[in-house]
Amino acid sequence: TTTTLLALAFGYLLGSIPFGFLLTKAAGMGDIRAIGSHNIGATNVLRTGRKDLAAATLLADALKGTAAVLIAWQWGPYAAIASGLGAILGHMFPVWLGFKGGKGVATYIGVLLGLAWPAALIFGLIWIAVAWLTKYSSLSALIASGATPLVLWALGQPDFASLFLLLTALVWIKHHANISRLLAGTETKIGAKKAAVT
Ligand code: G3P
Repeated sequence: TTTTLLALAFGYLLGSIPFGFLLTKAAGMGDIRAIGSHNIGATNVLRTGRKDLAAATLLADALKGTAAVLIAWQWGPYAAIASGLGAILGHMFPVWLGFKGGKGVATYIGVLLGLAWPAALIFGLIWIAVAWLTKYSSLSALIASGATPLVLWALGQPDFASLFLLLTALVWIKHHANISRLLAGTETKIGAKKAAVT
């Protein structure tokens, strides 16, 4: 329907605001895409050594997903789902950066928070546990996002589980280079000083 498509476009516009790119640029650090993994996300912002900017990126990239869902709720549940999907697509493929955006993890958590907060809590706990054990941000995101559709299904929310199956697939595809590095044993660990990944 028209409402659903408008919600998708609305979510896309919100999601396409590249906070990691903008915050580092505003801090006079140049183009974040020139360092580390070349990604615009919080994990890569952390590689600049600026924990405050990394935290702000994580928060802003997550909250734009939450906002996309909560604002679109007024047009109904399908609009909320479409807007959440739009936010992830906007973050991953922002028109402003030539459609080359982020990997979607923070925005994924934000959308999940807006649609089913208990699942977002579980996502966060899984992410923290894996990060604690392995120090890999990417692996934490892969495992937490892999578990989320199952968690939603177990919580009795099959519609959301289907949506997040799609979102998890997108996150995994965006992590293809990380998956290769994890398999090769060359992925950067959280807290590693070196900014060069590839
Ligand atoms: O959230 C993105 C994270 O999973 C990986 O980021 O910069 O190490 O590719 P990065």
